[in-house]
This record gives sequence, structure tokens and C-alpha cells, in this order.
Amino acid sequence: MRFTTTFAVAPLLLASTVLASFDGNLNYKSPSKRHPWLGIDQPKVVKRATTDHHDASALNFTHGVASGDPYSDSVVLWTRVAPTFQASNSNATVSDTQPLYYHGNISSTNPICVNYKVTEAKDVSGDVIAEGTAYTTSDVDYTVKVIAEGLDAFTTYYYQFSVCDSNKTSPIGRTKTLPNADDDIDGSVGLAVYSCSNYPFGFFNAYGGPVRKDSVDYVLHLGDYIYEYNEGDYGWGYSIDRTPLPNKGSGFEITSLYDYRTRIAQYRTDQDLADSHRYFPWIQVWDDHEVADNTWKAGASYMNNTEDSFIQFGNVSFDQRKANAVRAYFEWMPLRQVDMDDNLRIWRDFSIGSLLDLVMLDTRQYDRDITDLYWNTDYVHAISDEQSRSLMGSRQENWFYKKLSESQERGAAWRVIGNQIVFSRLNESVAYGSENPLNYDAWDGYLANKNRTLKHLYENEINNTIFLAGDSHANWVSDLVWLDEHSYDPSTGAGSIGVEFAGTAVTSPSPFGANITIGAANNISTALVDANRELQWSETFYRGYYELHLNYSTATAQYYGYPDIKTRNGHEISLANFTVYADENKLARNPKVAGGVANDGYLRGGKITQLSK
Ligand SMILES: *[C@@H]1O[C@H](CO)[C@@H](O)[C@H](O)[C@H]1NC(C)=O
Ligand SMILES: *[C@@H]1O[C@H](CO)[C@@H](O)[C@H](O)[C@H]1NC(C)=O
Ligand SMILES: *[C@@H]1O[C@H](CO)[C@@H](O)[C@H](O)[C@H]1NC(C)=O
Ligand SMILES: *[C@@H]1O[C@H](CO)[C@@H](O)[C@H](O)[C@H]1NC(C)=O
Ligand SMILES: *[C@@H]1O[C@H](CO)[C@@H](O)[C@H](O)[C@H]1NC(C)=O
Ligand SMILES: *[C@@H]1O[C@H](CO)[C@@H](O)[C@H](O)[C@H]1NC(C)=O
Ligand SMILES: *[C@@H]1O[C@H](CO)[C@@H](O)[C@H](O)[C@H]1NC(C)=O
Ligand SMILES: *[C@@H]1O[C@H](CO)[C@@H](O)[C@H](O)[C@H]1NC(C)=O
Ligand SMILES: *[C@@H]1O[C@H](CO)[C@@H](O)[C@H](O)[C@H]1NC(C)=O
Ligand SMILES: *[C@@H]1O[C@H](CO)[C@@H](O)[C@H](O)[C@H]1NC(C)=O
Ligand SMILES: *[C@@H]1O[C@H](CO)[C@@H](O)[C@H](O)[C@H]1NC(C)=O
Ligand SMILES: *[C@@H]1O[C@H](CO)[C@@H](O)[C@H](O)[C@H]1NC(C)=O
Repeated sequence: MRFTTTFAVAPLLLASTVLASFDGNLNYKSPSKRHPWLGIDQPKVVKRATTDHHDASALNFTHGVASGDPYSDSVVLWTRVAPTFQASNSNATVSDTQPLYYHGNISSTNPICVNYKVTEAKDVSGDVIAEGTAYTTSDVDYTVKVIAEGLDAFTTYYYQFSVCDSNKTSPIGRTKTLPNADDDIDGSVGLAVYSCSNYPFGFFNAYGGPVRKDSVDYVLHLGDYIYEYNEGDYGWGYSIDRTPLPNKGSGFEITSLYDYRTRIAQYRTDQDLADSHRYFPWIQVWDDHEVADNTWKAGASYMNNTEDSFIQFGNVSFDQRKANAVRAYFEWMPLRQVDMDDNLRIWRDFSIGSLLDLVMLDTRQYDRDITDLYWNTDYVHAISDEQSRSLMGSRQENWFYKKLSESQERGAAWRVIGNQIVFSRLNESVAYGSENPLNYDAWDGYLANKNRTLKHLYENEINNTIFLAGDSHANWVSDLVWLDEHSYDPSTGAGSIGVEFAGTAVTSPSPFGANITIGAANNISTALVDANRELQWSETFYRGYYELHLNYSTATAQYYGYPDIKTRNGHEISLANFTVYADENKLARNPKVAGGVANDGYLRGGKITQLSK
């Protein structure tokens, strides 16, 4: 009798004490706690547990640490602590009868306890500014996502996780909070901007650039952090030992939760990517490939919302596949859940002092009407100018315009829009023929949405707007103009309402061929600049990234290229620098755009030096 009672009470005690710490790990509520069918049944996880004490020597911090979505007083901290490098094949349904499995001595169902602390000292000694405890299990792929609170604004911190009651610690990470919204900033704020990292196509050397130079405050990622298909179309994966996992052969695409976890985990083993996450707080959004190629709200280029399509891709519906991708993304990325009632929402904004407002859009997964799926290009071209079409969904779109107005009203010096796809018109008939010359998978396929955005900017005289874009695997720098509606002078920039900085890929191949020569690429750039009045610089050869540095009088974009991505190396070259002066709403002509000189590509009215290779 007595024995039985004690036996029964022990697990219950555990249950009541650990509940709070389960709440601490945001990933149990991921992506939204108000949608239980998408979250993890936390009470069941707690009930199932029999101990939270583990042999720490059987555990590792398998994928380093990361931080992200900084506010002025808090930041998201991330790690993974696991008995195995492998991804968990749990399926987000916590069943009472789920068989236990073991890695060494660690049962898949018993919670692993970690502590974290945040300090101002590089070696995490001295005063602890924030600390806490959190649990993780295989249900969330052993990931841990917590919010460190009570921090000071615009301050650099160092943080570390450790297995409870042990000396087993994670690497030390560095992070930085944002300034308070109404604080003025001395000096400048630097952002490194990335998109399109495709593992089999090369090493993610570009992520390491700002780490080596310690040159920015925050990292922005505009999506295509992973790719869902198996081999590089050009076969590089095998030759450089970067074959994507899981590798189930030619034609395979990731579809299950296990697949997406495994793929993201493998990408995170790239040392430069891991270093970037460890050194800088990230602010990121997804594009299409975090789910599948050219996704829209009900499908993707190779997946229709039909049973035939399901059979071809792992016998999973498009909706289920998307839910799997979204779950893995939220588990692994250091981003906040900004709206618990809108489970697909990652569009969100950040006030960075009185200097800028950063608006991060989701033009891709949230509520996009049908896009170019290759077999329907003529159709999408035909409907691209229809008023009814929406790229963002009306909820997000109205929020976006409201944010732009509010930002201007509060007097923030700049408005920076982190967006996936290229905004400016790009007539690529030189490469794609004259029948369907535009990219209908970009803003050019959603002219009504694009016009409404431009109208909002022009009519409200919203100044100092900078659009950022990824997705295209090439560099494009343009004045932001409503062509055919407002007059515009390409030589002076008069008539422009802002600028667009679109960046090349970390590794994904040039849109004009993975093995294109620099001469052929520059000839294409020349033709593209000639065919597009607002386009000032086109560069289609290099893989890389750009940095955006802002102060109250100027915004400067510095573009970098990586000549060799078939080995891990830190050799980068400066491709071009662009300045925007506050209140000019166009690229500075000093006396020409980019000072009249770029290292590669084609610069309107300027010269190409190709100085260092
Ligand atoms: C932990 O990492 C170390 C070093 O990489 C490795 O030797 C060990 O096997 C790992 N242990 C587990 C349980 O994965
Ligand atoms: C999760 O689902 C996959 C695919 O249906 C299956 O292979 C796997 O066994 C499931 N995992 C568990 C723990 O039930
Ligand atoms: C598993 O636990 C047993 C008993 O506590 C211990 O003797 C053994 O060394 C442990 N094995 C591992 C791999 O930690
Ligand atoms: C941690 O390390 C210290 C000093 O090396 C040792 O005294 C202590 O017992 C260790 N604690 C645990 C929980 O292993
Ligand atoms: C590009 O070059 C790689 C070797 O560097 C080769 O494997 C691949 O087939 C080439 N791709 C094309 C499209 O020619
Ligand atoms: C999707 O539907 C289109 C139009 O019927 C068809 O051409 C295409 O092959 C389908 N794709 C898949 C993957 O089923
Ligand atoms: C899907 O199910 C069908 C019919 O049960 C089967 O023939 C096919 O191999 C399955 N496809 C995949 C990718 O698992
Ligand atoms: C967008 O604006 C352009 C330029 O005025 C115009 O040609 C086009 O028809 C407009 N489309 C929509 C849907 O508003
Ligand atoms: C934006 O700039 C224009 C031209 O300099 C100016 O007329 C307008 O007042 C500015 N808008 C605001 C809100 O300051
Ligand atoms: C680039 O264009 C120039 C001028 O038309 C031509 O002479 C050259 O052969 C072209 N280069 C390549 C690699 O196509
Ligand atoms: C695209 O450019 C080509 C060649 O410069 C031109 O003939 C065509 O009219 C343009 N198309 C559009 C939609 O601007
Ligand atoms: C861009 O600016 C940097 C820093 O001032 C300079 O080192 C670099 O040479 C410039 N690049 C070009 C292409 O002008």
C-alpha cells in the first residue's frame, strides 16, 4: 500500500515541477499553441516522463547555438541537446502507446533539462543578467528555444546552455539587443543580407564573411535557407561531398517532418552557417524552398493539390507537407511566434531605434495566389495584371501599408523591407524570350499588389524606403519607381520613391547557368540593364551577400562575391558599393551611381574594373 502510493506520487511530482520549464521551451507550442493539432500535447509529454535526470556524458549540443528576433529587452536563444546527431522521427502526436526508444541510456520520452545564462562577459563569467531552465524531448527534435528577458537595449551579450546538474556546456554564443524605439543611435547599424543557400551547390563561405570581419550588428535572411530537392541539378553535391540528407535517390524530395528536420540539421553543420548563428542575432523569413519550389497557398511547381500529386511525393497532401516544413522551421530557427492565432504568420516588424523600422514580409507561404508553376506560365502572365490577385493576402497587405505609415509618423529615418522576391520590373526577354519576358513568380506577377504598394508610398510621400530581395540568385540594384505611372529619369533618378537592393545567392546557381563564364554573364547583365530603365546595376556571376549600413544621413550597400565555393575558404571580393542619401529616395549619383565603378556585372553609365579575382 505504502510502496504503491510512493510509486504513484513520484511521476506526479515530476509532472508538477517540470511543467513551467516545458512552457519555457517555445517549441512545444510551435507554431501556435492555440492550434493544438499543430502543437505538441504538453501534458501528455509530462505525464509520460519518469525522470529528468540524465547521464550528461551521453548528451551533446549537436548543432551549436543561435539567437534571433532581438527586441530592446529580450532575444530568442536556441540550441539542440540530444543523445544523437540524428533527427527525431517523432510525428508531433504524443501517443500513450508510443514505444520508447533509446539512444545509449537516454529514453526518447524522458525530458532533458538544460539551463541557460546570459552575461556581458565573453567567457560567461561574472554577473548573470538572465537565466532559466527548459526541457526538451524527441517530440521537438531535442531543440530548445527560450526567450531571455530583462536585457538592456543595444547591448552585446554572451550566452551559454548547460545540461542541468552537470558541467556539460554548449559553445558560447554572442548576441545583441535592439535599441529602444525612441533612442537615437550614435554611429550606424549594420545588417548582413542573405538568401538562397543550396548545400550541394557549394560551401556557405558567404555566411562567414561578416563573422571574420565582425562587420555587422544583425543578420537578415530572406529565405531559401534550405532546398527540398535532392541533388544539385549540376551534380556538384557528390564531387564536393555535400550530398543532401536524407538521400533517397534521384527525384526524391523531402516531405515528412523527419525529412525536413534532417535537411535543416545537415545544413546547420556547415561551419560558416553555424558560426554566423553563433555570432549574430538573425532575423529571418522563409521563401519557397523551405517548403517546396514555387509554392503558393495551395501547391507548388511540382505538387498540385490532387491525389496524383500526393502519391508522387511521399503520399502526403500539400497541406500536410507544408505543416511538416513549417514545424521543422519553427523548431530549428531562432524566431518568435508573433501571433499565436495565426499559425502561418512570420511577417513581423522591428523598430531599431529612431533610425529604422524593419518590416519582414511573407510574400510566399502565407496567402499567395497562384504563381508560375512552369506549365501555366502563359496563364499566369495573362492574369498578372488582374486587380483581384494577391501576393500577401489582405490581412498582411493592410498591415504592411499601416506599418509604412506608422513608421513615417513616428519619424523613423528609414524603412527597410525584408522581402523574398524582386520588386522592380525585370524584363528578361533577352534570356527568356519575348513571349513571357517577366518573372511572374516575383512582384511582376502580382501587379495589383505591387501598384497598391507604390501608390501607398507615392500618395503618402513616404520617404527613405529600401526594399531588400533575394530569391533570384543574382544582384540587381534599382531605383524604386512606378513605371508607366510616374515620370522617371534613369540618369538622375528623378521620379523615384526609394531604392531596391536585391542580392545574389549564398550558393544557388546563377539564373543563367551554374557554369556560365564571367564574360557571358556580363553580356547578359549589359542587355538586362539596357532593357530595364530603373535597373542601375546587374551582376549575375558571383555567389555572395551584401551588407547594408545605415546612419541618419546615408544608407550604404556593399556587395561581396565569392570566387570559389567548391572549398571552404574566406576569400571574398568587393563587387560594388551604393549610397543612398536621406530624403533623396533614389540611388546617389556621386557623380554616378556606385561612384561610376563596379568590379563586375554591368553598371549603367559606369565602368567595370574586374580588379581582383
Ligand atoms: C558527442 O560529441 C563527441 C565529440 O564530437 C563525440 O565523440 C560523441 O560520440 C558524441 N556523443 C553522442 C552521444 O553523440
Ligand atoms: C512518423 O511518420 C513516419 C512517416 O509516416 C513513419 O515512418 C515513422 O515511423 C513515424 N514515427 C513514429 C515515431 O511513429
Ligand atoms: C548507462 O547506464 C549504466 C547504469 O547507470 C552505466 O553503467 C553505463 O555506463 C551507461 N552507459 C552509457 C553509454 O552512458
Ligand atoms: C563539475 O566540475 C567540478 C570541477 O571540475 C566538479 O567538482 C563537479 O563535481 C562537477 N559537477 C558535476 C555535476 O559533474
Ligand atoms: C557544371 O560543372 C560541373 C563541374 O564543375 C559539372 O559537374 C556539371 O555537369 C556542369 N553543369 C552544367 C550544366 O554544365
Ligand atoms: C499539375 O497539374 C498540371 C496541369 O494539369 C500538370 O501539367 C502537372 O503535371 C501536374 N503536376 C503534378 C506534379 O502532378
Ligand atoms: C504511395 O502509395 C502508393 C499506393 O499505395 C505506392 O504505390 C507508392 O509507392 C507510394 N509512394 C511513395 C513515394 O511512397
Ligand atoms: C499597375 O500600374 C501600371 C502602370 O500604371 C498599369 O499599366 C497596370 O495596368 C496597373 N495594374 C494594376 C492591376 O493596377
Ligand atoms: C518626403 O519628401 C518630399 C520631398 O522632399 C517632401 O515633400 C515630403 O514632405 C516628405 N514626406 C514627409 C512625410 O516628410
Ligand atoms: C560578349 O559580347 C561581346 C560584344 O558583343 C562579344 O564580343 C563577346 O564575344 C561576348 N562574350 C561572350 C563570352 O559571350
Ligand atoms: C521587354 O523587352 C523587349 C526587348 O527590349 C521588348 O521588346 C518588350 O516589349 C519588353 N516587354 C515588356 C513587357 O516590357
Ligand atoms: C567598397 O567600399 C569598400 C570600403 O570602403 C572598399 O574597400 C572597396 O574597395 C569598395 N569597392 C568598390 C568596388 O568600389
